Amino acid sequence: MCDLGILHCCSFLCSYPKPACMNLRVPELPDSEDAQGDRGLPDPRPAAPEYRGYDSAGIALDTPDSINITIIKETGKVQALENEIEVKAHAIEFANTHNTHVGIAHTRWATHGVPSPVNAHPHRSDDDNSFVLVHNGIITNYKDVKKFLMLKGHEFESDTDTEVIAKLIGHIYDNHKECSFREIVDQAILQLEGAFAVCIKSRHFPGECVATRRGSPLLVGIKSKTKLAADSIPILYSKDAKTTLSPDHRGVGVLSAPVPSTPPSLTPPTLSRADSTSQFGPLGEDKQVEYFFASDASAIIEHTNRVLYLEDDDVAAVKDGVLSIHRLKRAIDDPHAREITTLKMEIQQIMKGNFSSFMQKEIFEQPESVVNTMRGRVDFEHGTVVLEYISEIRRCRRLLLIGCGTSYHSCIATRQLLEELTELPVMVDLASDFLDRNTPIFRDDVCFFVSQSGETADTLMALRYCKSRGALIVGVTNTVGSSICRESHCGIHINAGPEIGVASTKAYTSQFIALVMFALMMCEDRISIQPRRYEIIQGLKNLPEQIKLVLKQDENVQTLAKELYEQKSLLVMGRGYNYATCLEGALKIKELTYMHSEGILAGELKHGPLALVDKQMPVIMIATRDPVYSKCINALQQVTAREGRPILLCETGDTETQAFGSSSIEIPHCVDALQGILTVIPMQLLSYHIAVMRGCNVDCPRNLAKSVTVE
Ligand code: AGP
Repeated sequence: MCDLGILHCCSFLCSYPKPACMNLRVPELPDSEDAQGDRGLPDPRPAAPEYRGYDSAGIALDTPDSINITIIKETGKVQALENEIEVKAHAIEFANTHNTHVGIAHTRWATHGVPSPVNAHPHRSDDDNSFVLVHNGIITNYKDVKKFLMLKGHEFESDTDTEVIAKLIGHIYDNHKECSFREIVDQAILQLEGAFAVCIKSRHFPGECVATRRGSPLLVGIKSKTKLAADSIPILYSKDAKTTLSPDHRGVGVLSAPVPSTPPSLTPPTLSRADSTSQFGPLGEDKQVEYFFASDASAIIEHTNRVLYLEDDDVAAVKDGVLSIHRLKRAIDDPHAREITTLKMEIQQIMKGNFSSFMQKEIFEQPESVVNTMRGRVDFEHGTVVLEYISEIRRCRRLLLIGCGTSYHSCIATRQLLEELTELPVMVDLASDFLDRNTPIFRDDVCFFVSQSGETADTLMALRYCKSRGALIVGVTNTVGSSICRESHCGIHINAGPEIGVASTKAYTSQFIALVMFALMMCEDRISIQPRRYEIIQGLKNLPEQIKLVLKQDENVQTLAKELYEQKSLLVMGRGYNYATCLEGALKIKELTYMHSEGILAGELKHGPLALVDKQMPVIMIATRDPVYSKCINALQQVTAREGRPILLCETGDTETQAFGSSSIEIPHCVDALQGILTVIPMQLLSYHIAVMRGCNVDCPRNLAKSVTVE
């Protein structure tokens, strides 16, 4: 059982009346520059966007006596939860003032088992809500731990793995009441295997919050009225923690050693100063502070842009308004502190603007996003490409490009150019299949891991597989601080800006360009290839304007969508530099419109797919004036000979090609290696319009999540 979603959690210390938290947004400290006047009024700023697929939501709040905890959970969207809160609020009589409040919330995407209130988060340790938590990830040994806990008399109410964490924490507390909240969590995570990001609150530790992660992202947002006491937080290490869960004679996991009776003393690794300086809180008299634990920066950007990223097995604790970070084990290359950084994204970047959906906005952002990807890296005047830290990759013997879904397609799209410009063998793999094969990896391999979120589990696992075998790891991500970003030796940030739509669009074109830039950098000293390099660099320079020209075809594409939206299937054919567009276009159609679609290599047509072609089967054929144009025309003739009526994606003014089709979408001519940037955009627009016509949720397609953080 695993749950995915976003966990929201915050704790803050304040000394003035606060409205009860009547919705999923936590009441905020009034910013000096934009105080909201009467704090009783709803904040006019929009709530954090619901930008990931999820199927249920829940929240846990302090009751008016600030001792007990109320949990409210509901299937469906956040609005359904808010309605439920409204109904229950009258019964609960939420207090109007809290001196300290810890609220946790979660939007869940279930991958196994039905979405239901009982399976929704938060989950609890017992009927008294003694410990309550939200979780992202999958606990792979949850059945063993569950069996152990059931033998100890614990009864489970849900069929999630998450509930095991809550019950385990409650069990450790019941047997070790001398431990602090954070120490209990320390011991609990020693028993867990798999991936987790959890936030926990407890009626036994009012006003405290503990959060920890392993294999799932977790960050801390910090908001205070006064200057923060430091720009980083040192790690506190405990001296000993030898407790492990080992199977007893019945094969059931038991705590094999008692939790230390006296909580392990914390000795900051490099700090001679008193512990108080190794904790963290605001300076000065005004101790008002809010901490936000979240699995994604976009969930907190409306509250603060000051964040720090937790690392695997960090345990963060908030107590008395002070944040501290603890570890049981020292990581070899750990910097012994967590730096507080400033998020560059702004709230408007994650808002829709004048578009009907985030995805539509992100399609139309591409003239700008491709410029941002190249900014400071491509010098069009001097024909140079500079990619920081990457330049020493010259001695490698092989390139491997690994990703999932759309990110994988960006690897397919650039494989041919990488082979041409680097003259190296280039292997492209889906991360899941790569892992299944236990592929041989060598120290002179350079492995690229392409991922918009930087958190895709399969891609991250493949990265760790290659890293453990000595290969050089290059991360190509769109998310600063993501796991893939931080675990790579070096990397390229695609700078596409936050991509909120679950269906990836601008990240694809930016990933494409990032890999093209790498190819150009790798051959900058090869005299023979300079004309080709120059042609491609000029092609990059022309791209933003050419993308705008393609976007002007939006109405034509919408007209085409009207002919297609009631079809059952759609084939997309092409080859060479446009083959990736066929795969990516088909994926867009599938994931947005729920219509079957297939990307077909035109060279494979006669080896089977031709049997699908008749006058009913919609076929999109991509035919641009590149080295494989004549072979594409050959395939086109095969289709028309079977009464197929192909829709052509061809170059502006190419009437010869258009004569073969029933209709066409025109795109400007550009250098062959970059055609895939222009040909994918009509497919993005087409999938968007068909999805709208079919009444599908464009930003949150059914069953999908923006980042698949479990295998
Ligand atoms: C693409 O539209 C999908 N959302 C999906 O295929 C996605 O590309 C894939 O899950 C990989 O995500 P990543 O780029 O964040 O690793």
